[in-house]
This record gives sequence, C-alpha cells and structure tokens, in this order.
Amino acid sequence: MPSQLIDRFGRRVNYLRLSVTDRCDFRCVYCMTEKMQFLPHSEVLSLEELYEVAAAFSQLGTNRIRLTGGEPLVRRNIMSLIERLGRLPAELSLTTNGSQLQKMAQDLAVSGVDRLNISLDSLQHERFKDLTRTGRLHQVLDGIEAARSAGFKRIKLNTVVLKGRNDDEVLDLIEFARRSELDISFIEEMPLGQITEHGRAESYCSSDELRELIGTHFDLHPSTERTGGPSRYYRLPGSDIRIGFISPHSHNFCGDCNRVRVTVEGQLLLCLGNEHSVDLRDVLRNHPGDRARLQQTIIDSMAIKPEKHEFSFEDEPQILRFMNMTGG
Ligand code: GTP
Ligand code: 5AD
Ligand code: SF4
Repeated sequence: MPSQLIDRFGRRVNYLRLSVTDRCDFRCVYCMTEKMQFLPHSEVLSLEELYEVAAAFSQLGTNRIRLTGGEPLVRRNIMSLIERLGRLPAELSLTTNGSQLQKMAQDLAVSGVDRLNISLDSLQHERFKDLTRTGRLHQVLDGIEAARSAGFKRIKLNTVVLKGRNDDEVLDLIEFARRSELDISFIEEMPLGQITEHGRAESYCSSDELRELIGTHFDLHPSTERTGGPSRYYRLPGSDIRIGFISPHSHNFCGDCNRVRVTVEGQLLLCLGNEHSVDLRDVLRNHPGDRARLQQTIIDSMAIKPEKHEFSFEDEPQILRFMNMTGG
C-alpha cells in the first residue's frame, strides 16, 4: 500500500524514525554536553504508546521504521517492543552505538530487525574514548562482530567526521569496513543543541574534501543505490561494500525527503532541522485507544512539513534540541 502521507511539496512520507529513549551510555561530543539532563519517566512514552504510534503509521502505509535514541538498546524491556514491531508489515531497522550488541544482536536478528546502523567514529582506543567520553572501543568492536555472526545481511557503519579529531582515520575506517564487509557512511556534523565544549564550525569537514582524500587511495565509483535515507553511495571495485556520504551542509537532500521523526516525548517532528512539530502524546493520553484520531493528527501534520532544513554554523544553533532528543 503506498503511503497516505503526502506533504504540500508532493513528497511521500514512508519512513518513520521512532526514538525510544533520550538516554545513552555514551556522551559523544557532537551529540551531547558532558552533563546531560535526561527526561523524567512521566514525560516519556511507554512501550505500549510507542507501539501504538508505529502501528498507526504502518496502517497509513509507512513501510520503513527505524528505531533510534539516545541509544535504543538501553531502554528497559526494549526487546518486547521490538518483537511486536517485527510483526508489522514494514522494514524494521535500528541505529545503535553498538555497546549492547554483544549480548543483544542474536535476539534482534530473531525478532525481525532487518538492518543495523552502528556508529563508529574511531579505531583508536584513546581517541574513541575522547570522542564518546564514556564509550569503550573494544565493546563496540565485539558488538559489530556479534552482529555479523547473527547474520544481519547489511550492516552500515556511521562515522561523524570531525576535522582534527578523526578525519585522518577515514582511510583506515574504509579498510576496516572492507575487511569486515560492512557499508560505511561518513556524516557531516549537524548543529543541534548548544554544545560549548566542542567547536562545530572549526571541526566541520565537507564530504567533498573527504571524497578527494579517499580518491587518492581508492577508486570510488558513484552508485545510484539508495537505502531510504540521505546517504549517497559509491562502490569500490572488487568489493561488495558501499561507501556513503551524508552531506546536509554541502549537498542538500531535502527535495526527496521521505521521513518524519517521533521523539520519545511523543513529539512528531516534521524535519530534523526545524522546530515544526505536533504533540502526539497529547492525543495518546487524552484519547487512549482512538487510533483514528491519532492517524488523522498524523495526516494533518503533513501540512506543516517544511521544505528544507536551514543548518548554519554561523550563529547560535537555531535548533536547541540535542541530537539524542531527536533521534538523528
Ligand atoms: P538508512 O539510509 O535507512 O540506512 O538510514 P540513515 O543513514 O538515514 O540513518 P542513520 O540513523 O544511520 O543516520 C545517519 C545520519 O544521517 C545521522 O547523522 C542522521 O542524523 C542523518 N540523517 C538521517 N535522516 C536525515 C534527514 O532527514 N536529514 C538530515 N539532515 N540528516 C539525516
Ligand atoms: N550531527 C551528525 N550526526 C550526528 N549523530 C549524532 N549527533 C550528530 C550530529 N550532531 C549521529 C550518530 C549516529 C546517528 C544517529 O547520528 O553518530 O550515527
Ligand atoms: Fe549516544 Fe548516539 Fe548521541 Fe553518541 S551519538 S551520545 S552514541 S545517542
């Protein structure tokens, strides 16, 4: 069934990014401040409410659902939600920091998670610790190995590239991806939330610069393949992996946006880089069980989906929400 969600620019929304927690066991420098305040439990959607949101979207023709966070796998009893979502007629995917995969990858695969995206910003132990503040590289590498053994068909690594901090590792990361037969996307950092400990403008690294650097060592062939998201892919001859670039600053991709987000507070965000939102928690809590009303609210929200994001490093961040509150 084609999605019934069409915005005023004619874009069909068939991809829901559902954030299941704002909490995380890491504190990545581009995502959070060191002393992050998390939401009280009363503000957060229950697992039942999260399921209701996903089921409402699915019935409206959404055929891709991605769970995000914070770190989705630190939400208590998350497997019970994933098992239910795995039975919806939609591709189910997960974006994770990898820290819990060693113990959970097998269950995720069995519960119907189709695709995994795993963040990996460095292959150097000390540096990994600097970038994530609380993360341990070996934990994530073990998690990646567990995911491969669990039989996930395509796993994608995500690397946010920061000048002077990990841009010199791009070739090593590609080599790692190639050896491990994993796709990899390099991401331009987006200015969400006020982060004083880290200079976003100074560490900006454009995808064009990276492609030029990579091109001196690897033969990159543009590919028309897409995975439903904004990544634009290249292929390496003699390898099955894809190398992607997510370039919100240098190559705007909003023209074919197919997605919306729901935060763990139940805010339906119509665009990552704008504040346009609709309160679904209000509908869920004031009209429990009224799926038709929830769906009508979602349909009506298409009228306020903005044309594009307006990210800029020039001024104070326009988006005060941090990435962990947004789901990426
Ligand atoms: P697939 O293509 O489905 O594999 O997913 P993805 O790469 O879109 O999702 P993932 O969760 O791995 O996110 C990777 C990066 O893309 C993160 O930095 C996200 O914030 C960013 N991203 C995802 N969707 C959008 C979008 O609509 N707009 C912008 N500006 N960034 C996005
Ligand atoms: N800009 C770009 N990507 C970010 N991520 C987290 N914060 C930012 C940011 N400010 C990435 C994570 C993860 C995905 C969900 O989003 O590294 O791969
Ligand atoms: Fe956690 Fe992901 Fe944010 Fe890092 S980027 S702090 S892993 S939510």
